[in-house]
Amino acid sequence: MADVVAAPKSAIVIKGLTKIFTLGKEKVYALNGIDLNIAENEIICLLGTSGSGKSTLLNMMAGLEKPTKGSITVFGERVDKMSERKLAIFRQKYMGFVFQSYNLLPNLSAIDNVSLPLAFAGVKRSVRTKKAKKMLKLCGLGKRMKHKPTQMSGGQQQRVGIARAFVATPKIVFADEPTGNLDTHTTIEIMEMMVKMARENKQTLVIVTHDIEIAAYADRIYHIIDGRIDAVEDNRDKQIIPLEEKAADIPDVKVSEQSEDGLGIREGAAESPPDEPKIEPVEDKDEPADPQKEEERISEILGSSKIENEIHTEDETI
Ligand SMILES: Nc1ncnc2c1ncn2[C@@H]1O[C@H](COP(=O)(O)OP(=O)(O)O)[C@@H](O)[C@H]1O
Ligand SMILES: [Mg+2]
Repeated sequence: MADVVAAPKSAIVIKGLTKIFTLGKEKVYALNGIDLNIAENEIICLLGTSGSGKSTLLNMMAGLEKPTKGSITVFGERVDKMSERKLAIFRQKYMGFVFQSYNLLPNLSAIDNVSLPLAFAGVKRSVRTKKAKKMLKLCGLGKRMKHKPTQMSGGQQQRVGIARAFVATPKIVFADEPTGNLDTHTTIEIMEMMVKMARENKQTLVIVTHDIEIAAYADRIYHIIDGRIDAVEDNRDKQIIPLEEKAADIPDVKVSEQSEDGLGIREGAAESPPDEPKIEPVEDKDEPADPQKEEERISEILGSSKIENEIHTEDETI
């Protein structure tokens, strides 16, 4: 008899979630009766076209927006019922975020950007600097620690974004169109990096995308249409697995081989040294963001804006 396998623990449980935005007399059903259950250590993708409700759903999971109806439970706690103060602490403790437009603070170096979540969590500077440096090295940015966002390519900025999201090892990492502004080669690098880290740290990773090729990295794909889950696809038998992980798990696999369905290992994924992206990022197609608003948003998501004054780049610490 096979051993009894315990049911995986839930990380996020959503029931009957509806979100209506009212624009004048018009009602927009951004979400229209969502039920889902995301397990711990699971990598899931919310896949859908623009306007289907993906970001609204992700924001609800992170407690950044309140539902019109329904419940959101994260690690046993109702985030829709939490006060803003409690939510801020909860997010600090359990959640990391990767954004499409990276959302790094422009006046801070890579090391200080990555240190932010640790600073919000009250970690003392010597420790957070050490952790941030380690994380940046892991992300292939050992030589870019003192660089500011404008001195880095889009791919490098997003690697700083990933380092920041993962540095405090949150139990959940949310990534909303994390490669939306990047070229194909850099997209593969970024996706592999996130998936590898989430696996190694046993984290839950929630990826929002409109791109089926990004969704291929997930264990499960939720197809979102018009604010509803149209289908849930179990993707574990055909997902893309980062090269090193695959090589370690399956001793005989040749890492240069393409899997049968063409989704397994993609050529070139591990070719270039991570510090030297071959292709520069494509131009950001979105409207330029208002820096003031961006900073407010980052502070809202990551914690408190007050602590920022305590962050310094000290040459001797690098
Ligand atoms: N703050 C808002 N006010 C009004 N309508 C909104 C707001 N946010 C999102 N919407 C609407 O809700 C729908 C879903 O949006 P969104 O979740 O951003 O979609 P996606 O991320 O899939 O592109 C869209 O029709 C969008 O216009
Ligand atoms: Mg969106």
